[in-house]
Amino acid sequence: MPVMMSSTIPRGMEETMSRPLQRGHRTSLGLNSMGRPVFKTAVYQKRRSHRSSEVRDVSLEVVRSLLIFLSRRKLLRKWMETSTLAQRFAARFVAGSSLEQALTVCRELNSEAITVTLDVLGESISSIEEAAAARDAYLRTITAIHENGVQGNVSLKLTQFGIDLSGDVCRANVGQLVERAAALNGFVRVDMESSEYVDRTLGLVCDLHDKYRAVGTVIQAYLYRSKNDIEMLNARGIRVRLCKGAYLEPASAAFPQKAQVDANYIALMQLLLDKGSYPAIATHDEKMIAATKAYAASHKISRDAFEFQMLYGIRRDLQRQLAKEGFRVRVYVPYGRAWYPYYMRRLAERPANVLFILRNMFK
Ligand code: FDA
Repeated sequence: MPVMMSSTIPRGMEETMSRPLQRGHRTSLGLNSMGRPVFKTAVYQKRRSHRSSEVRDVSLEVVRSLLIFLSRRKLLRKWMETSTLAQRFAARFVAGSSLEQALTVCRELNSEAITVTLDVLGESISSIEEAAAARDAYLRTITAIHENGVQGNVSLKLTQFGIDLSGDVCRANVGQLVERAAALNGFVRVDMESSEYVDRTLGLVCDLHDKYRAVGTVIQAYLYRSKNDIEMLNARGIRVRLCKGAYLEPASAAFPQKAQVDANYIALMQLLLDKGSYPAIATHDEKMIAATKAYAASHKISRDAFEFQMLYGIRRDLQRQLAKEGFRVRVYVPYGRAWYPYYMRRLAERPANVLFILRNMFK
């Protein structure tokens, strides 16, 4: 499957599109007993004076829920991952289908003083053999990073290594990767998936960190529990990437309002800058970035003590600008054939992306 390297979307497009998704009404949505997305109207009936903006926000939330729901549909995934047209659109967020293509992107980013973290796409696999294949693909990637002198590391998801099939198999697979990374002076970042995986992810990361050190993880600002988790990880010297969170979570687990998520993000960023071990501030939100810069400056925290992280294909202008200002910047570079769930989450983060794609389909 040749995922095209060149983006079909003009650079900087994201800056010119309509305002970002507001997550303010996420809790009014969910899946019904048939697993279909449902939309409860309670929120926009509450304040009629803001009706039009609330209807628009709720509509965005419906689109977002629908995209996340569709991201789990197997038949659609199969069709999309083999469709030439869909592959063209995926190229915006995916660096290529092969390791070679991904390495080319990494070298380009490195030449602009931007480091990378490579993600071999694939998640929620359904057999031990697939988990072993993912492990081997990551072993090749870690070795290639080292042999090619790429300034980078890898990020992975535990559902790609069999955590839903066997905790022991998953631990053995990821253990091999962290061991290899440690031997090559590399690093493995374990991404955070939906809230049902948090305890298992943290348990596995802590154990592997005790053994090899070369591993860190991700904390999501939308979860209520995240402050405690960060305190635990800080105390153990485990590196944390802070992000807002990309999954559909119930109000019992996550802040329902975007403003609450943003406020928690800033509080957690400060906790990490104060007491964390080389934290990664992963966001494209200029307000979060400005708050981080201001906090670091006012607390005399060196620019080398933390890094900003962004996703491949999103806010390339901001990535370059931060690097030019002397901040450390790392770009998350996904590659591979199993791009569908990752791509759908990127669309869900900004439903305006879907409109852009639809418009271009008919040009
Ligand atoms: P927000 O969503 O508020 O967006 C701020 C601005 O960024 C938008 O206005 C827009 O300009 C731009 N933007 C954001 N997303 C965009 C998109 N898809 N398309 C176009 N423009 C967009 N999540 C998770 O649950 N587990 C994980 O392990 C990770 N890992 C991870 C690594 C890295 C390096 C990053 C940057 C992000 C993640 N995420 C993640 C995803 C994260 O949780 C979150 O969904 C996205 O980063 C979007 O949130 P922002 O912080 O950018 O803010």
